[in-house]
Amino acid sequence: MKFEVKYSNADIPSNSDINILRQKAESSLQLLKNKQGKGNDFLGWVELPSNIKQEELQDIISCAEYIRQKSEVFVVAGIGGSYLGARAVIESLKHNFDCLKNDKQSPIVLYAGNTLSEDYLADLLDILDKKDYSLCVISKSGTTTETAITFRILRQHLEKKYGHNEASSRIVAITDEKKGILKEIANKEGYKTFVIPDNVGGRYSVLTPVGLLPIAVAGFDIRELVKGALQIQQNQPNIAIDYAIARNHLYDIGKKIELLVTYQPNLTFFAEWFKQLYGESEGKENKGLFPASVCNTTDLHSMGQYIQQGERLMFETILHVENANKRIEIPYLQNDDDKLNYLSKFSLSEINHKAELGTQQAHLEGNVSQLVISIDYLNESNIGKLIYFFELACGISGYMLDVNPFDQPGVEFYKRNMFALLGKK
Ligand code: PA5
Repeated sequence: MKFEVKYSNADIPSNSDINILRQKAESSLQLLKNKQGKGNDFLGWVELPSNIKQEELQDIISCAEYIRQKSEVFVVAGIGGSYLGARAVIESLKHNFDCLKNDKQSPIVLYAGNTLSEDYLADLLDILDKKDYSLCVISKSGTTTETAITFRILRQHLEKKYGHNEASSRIVAITDEKKGILKEIANKEGYKTFVIPDNVGGRYSVLTPVGLLPIAVAGFDIRELVKGALQIQQNQPNIAIDYAIARNHLYDIGKKIELLVTYQPNLTFFAEWFKQLYGESEGKENKGLFPASVCNTTDLHSMGQYIQQGERLMFETILHVENANKRIEIPYLQNDDDKLNYLSKFSLSEINHKAELGTQQAHLEGNVSQLVISIDYLNESNIGKLIYFFELACGISGYMLDVNPFDQPGVEFYKRNMFALLGKK
């Protein structure tokens, strides 16, 4: 994995600015490692890749295998950090149209508990009526309304469909080790459970069973994912420092928006995970970059206009994937009636890369600086690297901003009003 900075002329920092930011970033990393900074009871994620035991991974893989054998569909019910990490990894690696594939070897993963939309849940139930399925309910607190309501409805659906005992064998609960309503229900009903460690917050939990179980059920190699994360933890924490320095410099000089730019539709949910990680971690005390995303070249035909010539508010963090896993040739036509023969010597990826490079040049001219993170392929190991890289850089950046990157007090405001409106006692 590589990291590179391309500042527009107007954004180039002075050496002394960079030296000050480097000192801040390095002491922030030390605070994370020594567990002396804000929110230090939520730093379990820092050593997760090196602390995960092989037996824990094996337990997750065995449970996933059991689910895979009896399920056409696997429903993951959770919201925020209790689902985005799993979805980010699964969508990055899966066949783009796996729902329609005839030779499916893994259950289709569907998501619930992340919305209060009645139509969404009704449509899901409609599908689940006709499919063999299992359910994983994920909630650290065990009380999150969206997830809890969904679980009540799906639990009843499963029990009606399969009877109480078989339904119980199809439910996995991932929650706190000891406390919470979900834990009580799981104990009473005898569900298989996995623990979200006390010292790991939701949005930093993808390398716990929260992310690993759904990813394993979807058929991906969680050992490789963890190995990738471990490589950054042990060998390349410096690239997270470099990234934190660059984004904090750009924030300091007035850029308020960080756009995560991808050129692969299957990274769309990786961008959603990134937005939650950075938005909830940094956006507080009237501070923080606003994380947004675009997927090019699709969005070059919509947001591209604004990025090129609208208000100069943003910089780009580009997630560059060097090679495709599959290859498509552009056919050469004798009559060249569509005038595309000049492209037939390229693969589609090569054309995508030229679009990426051309866009980088154009946006630099338009005073949009770029931070480029490159991986060679989309695979488990590289996604593991990206996860740990972004988590580490987020912890460092939060401390550089002098906020607690591990709480989310603002999320309570809507809940307070919603519960009052619903008459909760
Ligand atoms: O990152 C976080 O902590 C949040 O996004 C939570 O994951 C989210 O609110 C869901 O919480 P819970 O797992 O308690 O249901």
